[in-house]
Amino acid sequence: MNTAQHKIGSGFGATSTAVDVLHGIDLSGQLAIVTGGYSGLGLETTRALTGAGARVVVPARRPDVAREAVAGIDGVEVDELDLGDLESVRGFAERFLASGRTIDIVINNAGIMACPETRVGPGWEAQFATNHLGHFALVNRLWPAVEPGGARVVSVSSGGHHLSGIRWDDVHWTHDYDKWEAYGQAKTANVLFAVHLDRLGRESGVRAFSLHPGGILTPLQRHLAKEEMVERGWIDENGDLVHPDAFKTPEQGAATQVWAATSPQLAGMGGVYCEDCDIAEPASADGERGGVKDWATDPEQAARLWDLSAELTGVNAFASRA
Ligand SMILES: NC(=O)c1ccc[n+]([C@@H]2O[C@H](COP(=O)([O-])OP(=O)(O)OC[C@H]3O[C@@H](n4cnc5c(N)ncnc54)[C@H](OP(=O)(O)O)[C@@H]3O)[C@@H](O)[C@H]2O)c1
Repeated sequence: MNTAQHKIGSGFGATSTAVDVLHGIDLSGQLAIVTGGYSGLGLETTRALTGAGARVVVPARRPDVAREAVAGIDGVEVDELDLGDLESVRGFAERFLASGRTIDIVINNAGIMACPETRVGPGWEAQFATNHLGHFALVNRLWPAVEPGGARVVSVSSGGHHLSGIRWDDVHWTHDYDKWEAYGQAKTANVLFAVHLDRLGRESGVRAFSLHPGGILTPLQRHLAKEEMVERGWIDENGDLVHPDAFKTPEQGAATQVWAATSPQLAGMGGVYCEDCDIAEPASADGERGGVKDWATDPEQAARLWDLSAELTGVNAFASRA
C-alpha cells in the first residue's frame, strides 16, 4: 500500500537535531553507508549514527579530507567514491560487496549545487549525474547487500526541487543551461528515485524515503558568489547572516535524514518526501516553498526516470521487474 503524503505528527520539528531523533534508538550491529558523510549534513549524520552504535562507511570523493574530518569518531571507515564517475561507483560497490557485509541504511547525501555548467562522464550535466545518476548506480550495484526486511534507503533532496521537474526533452541541458533549474531537476530526480525504489523494494521489506533537510550554511554554497548570497538576502556585505533564525544548524539539518533512516514511527511506510522530521504535505498551489511538488511524486514519472537512468548507467538491479 502506498504511504499517504501527509504529516504523521512525529512530535519532532525544525529545531530537532539528529541526536534528538535518535533518542532511545540503538543501532548496534547496524551498518550504514552515508555518501558525503564527511562534510556539512553528512558529517553530522555520521556522528549521530555512530553515536547510536552503527558502523558507518563513508565513501568519499576526497578520502584524505574525509579521514581528517572523521578522525576521532569511532566506528567510521572511509573509502573512495566519485559519484560523477561510474567506474568509481562500480569499484566502490565491488569492494564493499567483496567484504561480505550487509547494509541496513543507505543515505544518498552527497551533492553539488548550482555549479557553473560542467560535464562529466559521457558529457552528462554534472548536477544530474552526481546527485542522481551516481546514486542510482550506487544503490543498484549495492542492492545484493541491502538487507531484506528492514533496510532503508534515504535520498537527500531539497526544497530546490520546486525549481524544476524532469526536463524530459533534454535532461543533460545541452542548451539554455540554468544552474538553479539544473539543481532543481536533480533534486526532483532524488524524490522520484525514492518513489520508484520504494515500489520495487517494499516486497522484500526495503523502504525508501526522500527529504528536504532545511536551509543550512555548509560548503554546499561553494559555487555561489558572495554577491549572489547578498542578493538572496542570506548574508549582508560583511558576510553576516541577515536572518540567523532562517537557517538550521548542521545538527538540525541532519535530523530529517537520520529520522527517515531510523525512526520506528515510519515502520511499514515508504516512498514519501519528508521535511522537519515528519512526512511533508503536498506543495500548495500558492507558490510557497514548503511541501512536495506533484512532479516529484508522480509514480509514472518515477518509473520513466528509473528506466532512463538504467539505460544511461547500464545498471538495474531489478532488470526483470522494473
Ligand atoms: N545545506 C543546505 O542548505 C541544503 C539544503 C537542501 C538540500 N541539501 C542537500 O543536502 C546534501 C548535503 O549537503 P551539504 O549542505 O551537507 O553539502 P556539503 O557540505 O557540500 O557536502 C556535500 C558532500 O558531497 C560530496 N560530493 C560532492 N560531489 C561528489 C562526487 N562527485 N562524488 C562523491 N561525493 C561528492 C562532497 O565531497 P567533497 O567535499 O569532497 O566535494 C561533500 O562531502 C546535498 O545533497 C544537498 O543537495 C542541502
